[in-house]
Amino acid sequence: MTAIRYPLPASIDPERLPQHIAIIMDGNGRWAKKNKLKIALGHRAGTENLREIIRNCSDIGVKALTLYAFSTENWNRSKTEVDALMQLILDFFHSEIDELDEKGVRILILGDKSGLPEPQRLVLEQAEERTAKNTGLSLNIAVNYGGRAEIVRAAQLLAAQVAAGERTVDSIDEAAIADHLYTKGLPEVDLLIRTSGEMRLSNFLLYQCSYAEFVFPEDLWPDFHVPQLHACIEEFQRRSRRYGGREE
Ligand code: IPE
Ligand code: IPE
Ligand code: MG
Repeated sequence: MTAIRYPLPASIDPERLPQHIAIIMDGNGRWAKKNKLKIALGHRAGTENLREIIRNCSDIGVKALTLYAFSTENWNRSKTEVDALMQLILDFFHSEIDELDEKGVRILILGDKSGLPEPQRLVLEQAEERTAKNTGLSLNIAVNYGGRAEIVRAAQLLAAQVAAGERTVDSIDEAAIADHLYTKGLPEVDLLIRTSGEMRLSNFLLYQCSYAEFVFPEDLWPDFHVPQLHACIEEFQRRSRRYGGREE
């Protein structure tokens, strides 16, 4: 019997928690517009709920939480907006890293860090190094991340190993591909949440979401708090996961 951790509402079955929750944090722009604020303030508001979401996932015993922070396509936004998002990455780690580390959270960055400005690259690398040995919640932050690019990268890594005589073509199976994704070693995504009512993946975790349950709350990301997270977990627990088979 799993120890019931506070604060888990009675409506959630602690035995059937999603092990891995992935969130597409969408709707900051619409939130800013709705509140007649500049877009950068929408993005800032979209970092203020992060602490409670991360802390709650850690407290209730979720193993992995993956957050989509910046896609490879988000470079297409204005320089002002990209700069604001990059600044928020620095601010987030400066203000949160001590507490995350104390809580035993292990940080992993998914995406191409080499394509980021130097200060962001350094802060992300330092967060990964500092928390590498932690054994609590695995907090994975997708920055300069694209799902297709991730699969291409895995194919190239494996092809290079074949070319070097280090592995055979036949040894390339689903597990080998999974082992060359940024998410190596993490459980499959069980629950994928995208806020703001949009219903698409936008190039997020294409390989890892094969059998994820998708939940699309209407809330804009800055309005998404722990009760909304719990509602998504309840919805997940109402789903019947068949993996191509029949319900028992
Ligand atoms: C999501 O909010 C945050 C990032 C993409 C970084 P958006 O900025 O996409 O918000 P909307 O979709 O314009 O409302
Ligand atoms: C996906 O949201 C990326 C992040 C949340 C970081 P977008 O708002 O960029 O996606 P599209 O453009 O609506 O598909
Ligand atoms: Mg959006």
